[in-house]
Amino acid sequence: MESQANKLKEIVQQSSPQKRNRGTKFIAVTSGKGGVGKSTISANMANILAKNGYKVALFDADIGLANLDVLLNVRIHKNILHVLKGECSLSEIIINVNKNLILIPGESGDEILKYSDQFIFERFFDETAMLDNLDFVIIDTGAGIGGHIQLFLEASDEVIVVTVPDPAAITDAYATIKVTSKIKSSLHMVINMSKNDKEAQLIFEKIQKVALANIGGDLELDLIGKLPSDKLIARSIKQRTLFTNDSPNSGASMDLKRIVNKLVYKLERKVLKDGEHRSFGSFFKRLIEQF
Ligand SMILES: Nc1ncnc2c1ncn2[C@@H]1O[C@H](COP(=O)(O)OP(=O)(O)O)[C@@H](O)[C@H]1O
Ligand SMILES: [Mg+2]
Repeated sequence: MESQANKLKEIVQQSSPQKRNRGTKFIAVTSGKGGVGKSTISANMANILAKNGYKVALFDADIGLANLDVLLNVRIHKNILHVLKGECSLSEIIINVNKNLILIPGESGDEILKYSDQFIFERFFDETAMLDNLDFVIIDTGAGIGGHIQLFLEASDEVIVVTVPDPAAITDAYATIKVTSKIKSSLHMVINMSKNDKEAQLIFEKIQKVALANIGGDLELDLIGKLPSDKLIARSIKQRTLFTNDSPNSGASMDLKRIVNKLVYKLERKVLKDGEHRSFGSFFKRLIEQF
């Protein structure tokens, strides 16, 4: 009888749809070359997830350039570096973008290293508890293959490499894939600003062929989707609004929704497999320990 009750308790606990207990999933958006659409894709992916009811944070790890704050039309005063220097609290830097969506202004890893004060770190980690109910953190990394970017990619659950059809961007995307394949066994690609599905597919196949020949079959590289070059996207960026709000039923919004759905599906299956529960705090702890 008793074991029956225990079993039931287990099942009830497993099937309760409490997102809070599932931990936070980390999705990094990166690229070889700048200006390929990382920030646009990160912000709109986060927006789609938030509109679907998930609690989402956008983490701007490319703070050097005017980026997510410009796209989201918010003003940033301080970032995570100020928190780690002990100049302000975490809650002071977090910006509410809209329902279910916050922005956490980041800083490059090299800078964070210089301020490794144990006491402040502990206070910071205590404060991250307020982010424990996040479902997703989308990390907008800088472009390139720098060391701290690689740390973010390594710590993330899923990595998306964005490229555009121009040859220089493709070469740089490949360089990113090659370096990142040393620390990640699976990478997704998004071909942005493509003319059509066929062009996106051809570009992907070209990269995949080179990857297979030079990196080998251990790397799982997939084309998770494409986004067209779209006047609506360009207009929203100029207006400092999100195209997934301005034109939620456009082809581009549908394309991005498909990408998000695939990621969510993959991540939910992963949770069932390894059951590891992570939080913003534990993610950051791991990063700082490696910086
Ligand atoms: N799918 C798209 N259609 C039209 N313009 C785009 C698209 N994606 C990006 N852009 C343009 O490219 C510029 C760079 O995008 P951004 O997201 O800032 O790139 P990154 O973060 O990689 O540097 C934007 O200002 C916008 O003008
Ligand atoms: Mg950017």
